[in-house]
Order: sequence, then structure tokens, then C-alpha cells
Amino acid sequence: MDDKPSFFSVRYDLVQVDLPLLFDLYINSSVVKGKEKFVRIFPSGETLKKDDLEEFHKKYVQLYISEDQRSVYLRSLVKSQVDDVQKANVIKDAALDYLHNIFDKDKEFSTDLLSKSIEGCREVVESMVDVLEEHNIDSLRNLIGNLSFHDFYTYDHSINVSMYCITIFKAINPKATRKELVHAGLGGLLHDLGKIKIPTHILNNPGGLSNEDYLTIKNHPDFGLELLLSGHCKVDENIDLKIIGRVIHEHHENYDGTGYPQKLKGKEQIHLLARVCTIADFFDAITTKRSYNEVLPIPEAMNTMRNFRATKLDPDIFDIFDQHVRYIRAEATRDLKLSDSFDPTLPYAKLPLEELKKFSKEMDFGKIKVVDPSLKKKK
Ligand SMILES: [Fe+2]
Ligand SMILES: [Fe+2]
Repeated sequence: MDDKPSFFSVRYDLVQVDLPLLFDLYINSSVVKGKEKFVRIFPSGETLKKDDLEEFHKKYVQLYISEDQRSVYLRSLVKSQVDDVQKANVIKDAALDYLHNIFDKDKEFSTDLLSKSIEGCREVVESMVDVLEEHNIDSLRNLIGNLSFHDFYTYDHSINVSMYCITIFKAINPKATRKELVHAGLGGLLHDLGKIKIPTHILNNPGGLSNEDYLTIKNHPDFGLELLLSGHCKVDENIDLKIIGRVIHEHHENYDGTGYPQKLKGKEQIHLLARVCTIADFFDAITTKRSYNEVLPIPEAMNTMRNFRATKLDPDIFDIFDQHVRYIRAEATRDLKLSDSFDPTLPYAKLPLEELKKFSKEMDFGKIKVVDPSLKKKK
């Protein structure tokens, strides 16, 4: 980010009226792209009337708010009567901007940029914690399904994982403090930070990865930790970057010690928030549509995840997660097993699934029952 104040657009229907405004409203008075000229049209502290806003709407295509006032805007939006999908979409837009600042390979990477972006991410997570207050894992799933998508998978994925981390952590610890929830959410939002250093053609190459590419991808927990800790980032004093660093570094460790990069094992060695993040990461990878892969309906997704209980996934957290995801097991139409080598971080063209047995469909020819002979072989 340069020193010039930057601005983000805001929808007319999401500006509150008849209350003292907590931020300044701007318009762009220039029609030349790249040469925007932002002019303040309404100051913070004054009450914006509905008529004023309608007048603005007739005259100006778009309203803007200064980036410096984004957190104030988010907080006022979260407290407003707007529905949760709209709130979550605005929060997501803010998260996308901050993640883009970090991940954009055209931008020169600096500690200052990282600090400002992480601080922005913290603000975003604070708003997420508020919006998700009344949500459980199940309603969050619906909320995520209603959000707009970005074409760079890592952004959507990081935002979803962040929201799942907050909600799963709340499920395993109903008395969680706000500070703990913010750490859970921020760890989720930044868990794949190290992917900045992985070339995009590897990250987005479903099906065509060589062993070497896979080894490169597997470096992302190390890269992420290095980036976070080497730069002496300055963030809000309530954030413990060491904890965020552990989520980044340990989210691909497996509960049974077979993960990477350090082969840590169990509750003693793998940080609680990293174990939460592993489950959120796994769940999002198999249930959220990417442009190139099929997703599983929830009953099948939960059945396949259950196979990794106590191997990849912390069994206690998984059990609570399982209880909170409302679904009817009998609704599963296929009995599937995900390959043991499944890694949620890889861009699969097709999930590595094996169908264990077809659900027995008997063909009824009058009084004679014929069972499809191919079903018998698979037992
Ligand atoms: Fe990852
Ligand atoms: Fe991930």
C-alpha cells in the first residue's frame, strides 16, 4: 500500500440513514481510469437523511469510503439491521482486498505491507466474530453458500476456513473469549499465507502436478511461518503472532504424527487452533465448489471425514464438529472413501474417492428378485 489514501466503494443501500455518520462519504469526480479524484461529499459526525442519500444516488453512480475508515464502517454495518448475508459479503470484500494486498505477486512485498494487511485482516475477523455470534456450523454452511465467489480459490478458501475456525472453536468451547475467537479466525484467514511463495501455475493446476510440484506446495507452512515472523510485523497488541504462526505452521500436521512439515503428533504437540484449522481446511476443501472439482454433499463429506478421525483429525474436535453439522446420515447415497493420501491443499481435478460399495438396489421383476451380480463381487 502506498501513502496515498485509498478508497473502497460502498453500496447505497448499506449506508445507514438518520443516524450520525461515523465515516466520511466520498465520490470519484474523475472519469479517467487510474486517475481517480476522490472528493468528500458528506462529513462524519453529521446525520445523513434519507432524502440526502436519495439525492446523492441520482447524481453519483458510486459512493466511496476512505480505507482508513474501513473498520469504523464495518463495525457500524455489523450493528445495523442489514441481513447477515449482506454483512458477510461486505466483510468478505474487505478480506479479499487485504488478502489481495498480501498475495498479489505484482506488489512489492514488504514488512509494512504485511503489517498493514494483517492488521486489516484482524479488523475483518473482529467483524466476523460479531456476525457469527448467533451462527452454528450448520447455519454458517448456508451463509457461505450464499456469498459471492472470487475466481482465485485461495481467497474464498481462506475466508471460509476463517469462519469455520471461529464457529468450530465456539462449538468445542462455548465459553471461548472474544480474544480466543479472533485468534481462531485470524489463524484460519492466514493459514495458507505461505502460498504467496508458490507459483500460481502450481496452485491452480488440477490434476497435473508432478512430485516436485507437490514438494513445493508442501513448503507452504514453512514459508508462511518465515514470512510472518521474519518481518517483525506490528499488529494490535492483543494479537499474539506466535499463535497465528503455529496455526500457519501446523495446519498440515496429522493427529497421528504422519503430517508435515514437522510430523508433530497429538494434542501435546499440535496447537489446538491448528487442529481446529485442519478440520475447517478439510471440510471446506471437499464441500466448497472450486471451478475444477466436484464437491460432496454433506452426508458423504462427513462419512469420508470420519475415516480420518484420530489419524489426520483430532477425534474429540471431530466428534463435536460431527454432532454440530446437522445432516441425516441415511441420506448418503454412496459409501465413499477418500484416499489416505488426500491433502486438502492440493488442486484436485477430481477428489481421490473410492466407492466402497454400491447401495443395494434390487430390481424387482414381478415375483423374482434379481440382484445386480456386480454388487456381490465388491463385498
Ligand atoms: Fe495449507
Ligand atoms: Fe488451506
